[in-house]
Amino acid sequence: MFMNFRRIHKCQVMQLLTTCMVLCVVMVCWDELDHHVVSHMRSYSYRYLVNSYDFLNSSFNISSNHHRKDGSNDVDGRLVNYQYLFNHPGKCGGGDGKSRDDVLLLLFVKSSPENFERRQAIRDTWGNESFVRAEQGATVRLVFALGVHPDVGQRSRVQSALMQEDHIYGDLIQQNFLDTFHNLTAKLILQFHWGHKYCPQARFLMSADDDIFVHMPNLVKYLRQLLSKKSEAKDLWVGHVHRGAPPIRRKDSKYYVPYDLYPWPSYPDYTAGAGYVVSGDVAAKIYQATLVLNSSIYIDDVFMGICAKAMGVSPQEHGYFSGEGKAPYHPCIYYHMITSHGHTTDVHSLWQAATDPTVYSNSRGFMGNLYCTVKRVMLLCLPYYQNTYSCMAAFT
Ligand SMILES: *[C@@H]1O[C@H](CO)[C@@H](O)[C@H](O)[C@H]1NC(C)=O
Ligand SMILES: *[C@@H]1O[C@H](CO)[C@@H](O)[C@H](O)[C@H]1NC(C)=O
Ligand SMILES: *[C@@H]1O[C@H](CO)[C@@H](O)[C@H](O)[C@H]1NC(C)=O
Ligand SMILES: *[C@@H]1O[C@H](CO)[C@@H](O)[C@H](O)[C@H]1NC(C)=O
Ligand SMILES: *[C@@H]1O[C@H](CO)[C@@H](O)[C@H](O)[C@H]1NC(C)=O
Repeated sequence: MFMNFRRIHKCQVMQLLTTCMVLCVVMVCWDELDHHVVSHMRSYSYRYLVNSYDFLNSSFNISSNHHRKDGSNDVDGRLVNYQYLFNHPGKCGGGDGKSRDDVLLLLFVKSSPENFERRQAIRDTWGNESFVRAEQGATVRLVFALGVHPDVGQRSRVQSALMQEDHIYGDLIQQNFLDTFHNLTAKLILQFHWGHKYCPQARFLMSADDDIFVHMPNLVKYLRQLLSKKSEAKDLWVGHVHRGAPPIRRKDSKYYVPYDLYPWPSYPDYTAGAGYVVSGDVAAKIYQATLVLNSSIYIDDVFMGICAKAMGVSPQEHGYFSGEGKAPYHPCIYYHMITSHGHTTDVHSLWQAATDPTVYSNSRGFMGNLYCTVKRVMLLCLPYYQNTYSCMAAFT
């Protein structure tokens, strides 16, 4: 009797716990789903019903009495010349009357002063310039874009560590602005201004976060294919595209944008800032746009969209550039992947796995192809991977 009672009791507890669990899961998913559905409906309605992106008018230009020649970032939307604390003008050649290097890709990684380990992981893996040179004979230049540590107390310690780091690797580009979320547009401007001044010959420019993984061999192969079809290497801005995204007006959001900063109901199309590539001509156009546009909007991807819109450039979707999401770990994915977001601790292991020669040998041929397509459908077309590559990408 007593045993029985205990069993029932246990069962009830289990039932209660299970119910709670299920409820929690449903609630969490519903919230996600709801958010997802609502934001999609909104962006689709802007895209297909309103279908008008004429909002951006000259109110975004800075008034002509504020015009400037060169410099970077904004005080009240105007460019300011932030001083370079670390710079490497000779990174792409061209110093002391020497000829410039034939750079395929200038790779900017947006980093923060304290992220020493992330930078090291990138240099050791996908950002290894010598690897690309040795394996593919291509010239890639990697530099890190930084501001200064926002905390005054830690700044001098961090700066001297950066000094040592830069002494060894010579790849830090730092300007004298606070490295904060709301100064990301300053970092964007730094990249396009540096590129314009010191590496204008680069065929492509990439901007990437320091917590993404780039499958460099696949990227280089893709860029070379574009170059071989001359027309496609121009006017290119490629990544994971956000179309018709509405500004977030909830004050508690990190991405909150007030009406006086951006009065219109939708942003121009832009690519996720986690990682995108532009061709050299587009980089030059963006540079020009930063000279005349008001840069007080602090979401850097959106500012990029505004610059591009002003210059008549529109972004292109590529199925294997991820937005916020992390790509599934599978060789059939590695065969195509370009970027994946959210990698800090597993960069080394992923680099090993993704560049293993068997990835290529096993995905080829009729059977390999068939197997991988099925595998990718299983990985990408299930709802819980909605944040990375789209289901469509499974069929490429
Ligand atoms: C730009 O658009 C805003 C909002 O629609 C409007 O208030 C403003 O008058 C426009 N400015 C110009 C110069 O057309
Ligand atoms: C605003 O800037 C854009 C982009 O440079 C330019 O095409 C346009 O003529 C400018 N408009 C005014 C009114 O200055
Ligand atoms: C840039 O836009 C902000 C917000 O709309 C405004 O306060 C600022 O005066 C503008 N700056 C210039 C230089 O036009
Ligand atoms: C970078 O790549 C080269 C060439 O493949 C290799 O010899 C070197 O060890 C790599 N560097 C690091 C830090 O892994
Ligand atoms: C951006 O950097 C500048 C220069 O250091 C600083 O004055 C400003 O407060 C920073 N802005 C934000 C929002 O952190």
